[in-house]
Amino acid sequence: MSAILTAEHVTKSYPVPGGEMVAIRNLSLDIAEGEFLCLLGASGCGKSTMLNMFAGFTAPTTGRVLLQGRPITGIEPRCGMVFQSYALFPWKTVQENIEFPLRMRDVPRSERRAIASSLIEMVHLDGFADRYPGELSGGMQQRVTLARCLAADPLVMLMDEPFAALDAMTRQVMQDELLRIQERSGKTIVFITHNIDEAIILGHRIVVMSARPGRIRTIVENPLPRPRHVGVQTSHAFADLKAELWAQIEEEVMQHVAASRLAEHA
Ligand SMILES: Nc1ncnc2c1ncn2[C@@H]1O[C@H](COP(=O)(O)OP(=O)(O)OP(=O)(O)O)[C@@H](O)[C@H]1O
Ligand SMILES: [Mg+2]
Repeated sequence: MSAILTAEHVTKSYPVPGGEMVAIRNLSLDIAEGEFLCLLGASGCGKSTMLNMFAGFTAPTTGRVLLQGRPITGIEPRCGMVFQSYALFPWKTVQENIEFPLRMRDVPRSERRAIASSLIEMVHLDGFADRYPGELSGGMQQRVTLARCLAADPLVMLMDEPFAALDAMTRQVMQDELLRIQERSGKTIVFITHNIDEAIILGHRIVVMSARPGRIRTIVENPLPRPRHVGVQTSHAFADLKAELWAQIEEEVMQHVAASRLAEHA
């Protein structure tokens, strides 16, 4: 397996009053080129922290993060981030938003137009090129964000709960779309989710994290065949894998629920 992205004994602590808080402890992980990897774990287990280190937004306290074998030392443009909030330019049209990373690379206008048009088609936004983000639904805005990330043509797409704000039906449409995009483009994707079903629908592998400090609890190979479709949710294999994953995180989630109830009543 040739790893495109690697975490090598990564520990990340944040300073807190009176000491430090270890968000991630000694986490090592190899992500293969072309892999769709889902990071699954309860709130606060360090998923965003890990993703932010892959993007170079923040550095490990100890250990290393490598892209194609070389340490990531600053913001890494070859790792494109898609956030939960859409983060589009509200004053730019769909077309202009998608063209933005191409402008940054001085891609000639006609080429920019052509690339943006094909991406608009890919994410099924034909006819909406001249609309502004404020005129679109959440699902449509998230598709623009996806297209903009693809326009930048990053080596790796880092996605931090990109579909969490969407309603259940739109979420399924987006999951299907992302599966098609990944299968067609062969992009490496690191995708964070709280949602077991989403992790099973999307991932080649599912990394289950546990909290305080964040560690890898287990890594599950997803046996469901590809090309994959959201309809896979009705299969026995899906139910079996869900039961297996739930057993892994149940304890963690229950502790979290108990802790928040205590906090509520404090
Ligand atoms: N900049 C920061 N300063 C101090 N502590 C932080 C900072 N960022 C994150 N943390 C802490 O690190 C831990 C992990 O946070 P992180 O955001 O990575 O979790 P997460 O798994 O993404 O959670 P969620 O699912 O809620 O998004 C949390 O306890 C959080 O409070
Ligand atoms: Mg997070």
